[in-house]
Amino acid sequence: MRQLNRAWKIIATTAYGLGLVAAASCSEPGRSPSNQTGAPGNTSNPNDTSGNNTGPRPNLAPGFDGKIDSNKNRLAAAGRDIFRYDTFGSEKFWGDTLGLHRAIAGAQHGGVGTGLDPTTALAVGLKVDVEKLPAGLPEQITAGKVDLKDPATTLALLQADAVVGVKGIFDQAGTLTSVGIRCSLCHSTVDDSLTKGIGKRLDGWPNRDLDVGRVIMLAPNRMAIAGVLGVDLATLDKVLSAWGPGKFDAELTLDGKGFRPDGKSAATLIPAAYGLAGQNLHTYSGWGSIPYWNAFVANLEMHGQGNFFDPRLNDPVKFPIAVKAGLFDVRVPEDQDMISAKLPALQFYQLAIPAPAPPAGSFDAAAAARGDALFAGKADCARCHTAPLYSEPGWAMHTGAEIGIDEFQAQRAPDNRYRTTPLRGLWAHAKGGFYHDGRFATLLDVVNHYDAFFKLGLTDGEKNDVVEYMKSLGGEE
Ligand code: HEC
Ligand code: HEC
Repeated sequence: MRQLNRAWKIIATTAYGLGLVAAASCSEPGRSPSNQTGAPGNTSNPNDTSGNNTGPRPNLAPGFDGKIDSNKNRLAAAGRDIFRYDTFGSEKFWGDTLGLHRAIAGAQHGGVGTGLDPTTALAVGLKVDVEKLPAGLPEQITAGKVDLKDPATTLALLQADAVVGVKGIFDQAGTLTSVGIRCSLCHSTVDDSLTKGIGKRLDGWPNRDLDVGRVIMLAPNRMAIAGVLGVDLATLDKVLSAWGPGKFDAELTLDGKGFRPDGKSAATLIPAAYGLAGQNLHTYSGWGSIPYWNAFVANLEMHGQGNFFDPRLNDPVKFPIAVKAGLFDVRVPEDQDMISAKLPALQFYQLAIPAPAPPAGSFDAAAAARGDALFAGKADCARCHTAPLYSEPGWAMHTGAEIGIDEFQAQRAPDNRYRTTPLRGLWAHAKGGFYHDGRFATLLDVVNHYDAFFKLGLTDGEKNDVVEYMKSLGGEE
């Protein structure tokens, strides 16, 4: 054992020596910045207990490590802010173009119509951040002393910046003059700690209550969207009202397909934006990496102001609307780009959002343990849902035929495939069902589908075990 140890140390020292030569020969100019970070007297490696630590060491490691640590903290904090609060300039579209703020305010407060009272806002799935409420207000809400039927209350909530994912812009007189949207509109919910719809933020949890279609239908000038799609208002409203809670159609403004061949809505469920670290491709049909998709969404869906390039969209057969609107190459001058500079921190923060751990007692642990063995054994799920990602490391993409479903949604994306969904934290987004369109209402329905399609021959008990196992997935790895 001692002998082996010593052999390893000698090899390690040699390797380190080689690295030192390489570092020294190419890092001369780079040494002064690392000196700036202040690591005085760092000429030896304090972690090296090999006894071979005799020569001088380059002044790199601790100082640069410190840089990495401060960068990490800065990115995480900035990314959280961007995820929660940044509109990317989208108020130009949601406010100035669509006039959504006017419908929210109502005629009494300088807008149009009856206005959006908080009860209706909560009913379409908008959420309120309890931590943004002025002191005393939570107690008054609990005591029923706040008028939740008055649009003026919604305006007060917006002024306190308490509506998750919606930014109200007010003039000096307190009139709502515009609204912008944020990632958190769809990708956060709250824990309902005060009352249903009002609580602490849960970043990354999909808002499966939010009826995005109904929110857009409030906008008086939504003809602007219908115009781009080349349809009339009635047709647009038919498409939007078919989405339902927890759904949105990110491909609609590319291909103009409001409905599938079977007549159902073409919208997909809002997916989890947690537990994504290590996952290669994102969205149900694997459009690209996190920063790819963030740029896509911020520019093309939220209508923020930035730069976006994807020549794959320049396909008149697949993406006729995108081609007409020039979405494959969106350019604004650098000093007006409100998106690109935010992509690094936004990505970093998203990668840091863990899949939430299932509540104690929410699954049967003994059944889950049996399900674990089945998942990688008889049920053969792990072939694609490989732990700990529960998706394939690499190119996790499959045709509809490979998983026994239609190709419609897959073929609305460049690679014509479905991405193997990472499964951690499934328990927290059961509402709305499973698979991209929620076609399976329960996890048991999913297992039944695979059992029939792959002819797995699972017994009822085994199916239940696999379901309990899936309910157990989440929490820190
Ligand atoms: C209007 C609702 C909405 C908004 C706003 C929104 N998203 Fe999404 N997001 C969706 C939907 C729906 C999908 C699924 C799209 C698909 O598969 O075609 C999605 C997919 C994603 C995914 C892929 C998750 C996975 O499973 O790999 C990420 C990451 C994501 N969004 C991040 C963001 C970020 C960051 C923002 C803000 C820049 C944002 N989204 C804004 C609705 C929204
Ligand atoms: C051939 C690869 C493959 C195999 C094998 C496979 N899956 Fe999947 N799985 C996928 C793909 C691809 C999707 C995405 C389908 C969609 O969104 O329409 C998916 C989606 C799911 C979902 C939905 C997740 C969500 O958030 O909506 C669950 C749950 C699931 N699979 C469980 C299982 C179980 C359990 C097994 C074993 C019985 C299994 N899978 C076997 C590829 C596979």
